[in-house]
Amino acid sequence: MKIFIDSADIDEIRQAYAWGIADGVTTNPSLMKKAVDARHKKAHRLDLQTYITEILKVAKGTPVSLEVTETTADGMIRQGLALYKLFNPIARNIVIKIPINPAFKDTDTTHFDGLRAIKALADKKIPVNVTLVFTPEQALLAAKAGATYVSPFAGRMDDYIRKRNRITFEKTDYFPWQGMWKGKKPYDDNGVVSGVDLVWKCSQILKHYGFKTKVLAASLRNIRQVREAALHHADAATLPFSVIQNMLKHTKTYEGMAKFTKDIVPAYVRMTEGGTHDPSSKPAAKESRVVKGKKAVVKLARDLKTKRSVKKRKPKGKGWFEIKDVEK
Ligand code: G3P
Repeated sequence: MKIFIDSADIDEIRQAYAWGIADGVTTNPSLMKKAVDARHKKAHRLDLQTYITEILKVAKGTPVSLEVTETTADGMIRQGLALYKLFNPIARNIVIKIPINPAFKDTDTTHFDGLRAIKALADKKIPVNVTLVFTPEQALLAAKAGATYVSPFAGRMDDYIRKRNRITFEKTDYFPWQGMWKGKKPYDDNGVVSGVDLVWKCSQILKHYGFKTKVLAASLRNIRQVREAALHHADAATLPFSVIQNMLKHTKTYEGMAKFTKDIVPAYVRMTEGGTHDPSSKPAAKESRVVKGKKAVVKLARDLKTKRSVKKRKPKGKGWFEIKDVEK
């Protein structure tokens, strides 16, 4: 499973790539606002175009999702094209994020504008990440319209199910992928029993019908949810920095480290000090070199970075020196 970092904070993104674990970046208007506000708070001036350019460079050609903020098909297409034109030449890694349905309420007339925008951009070979996916049917339509990624929002689905059923919870609380049950029936949203179940159903449908569209599990808030997304065949998961950090932590790992460190035999460490020794390499072949003049001896020793050879020099005729055991 690929791991994307769900952040617009350049320091977090830089760190995730330095660790060698990031396969992409996803941003959205809220994450962008958070990053911009944090910089303004520290009285840092921020040129947003330069800032995003920096993110793209750090991501080294891996996909970076930038979301549109318009809410009509024409607006989203225009903005998607503009974002792509502005930023894709930098590292050829732009993915345009389009909401599956930009309507705010049932009576709005823009329900299909997301699909129109996905198709228009996909027709121009612009990769699209379809966001705010809360049903497998939305994922199916997004894939048919040409999406490169669909992003089911697992954590927000769990929130929705819990809130509707008056289950109290904290944002990062674990919610079982099998759902929470009341007697013989799980709480659900039209048959979806949890966020991970949503990821699983999207993945099952798209894989079964051979779509190239990847399932990018989003809104993951704890490590167990990450594990379950992986077990349920998400192609990728986009994770907040804190969740990535938590993935490494375990009390028994700390405990093991403390014990191993306490038990170190000093001679074992000494073997590794003062240079590296590759046990698989053959002993270096040695030869003698004859040079004229003391200066030449010193120069050869310097070139060969060997003091031992200088000590082993031996006069050989007038002004000539033989240096023994020089590595070939
Ligand atoms: O990628 C989606 C994400 O940014 C929203 O996550 O869990 O904060 O609702 P969440």
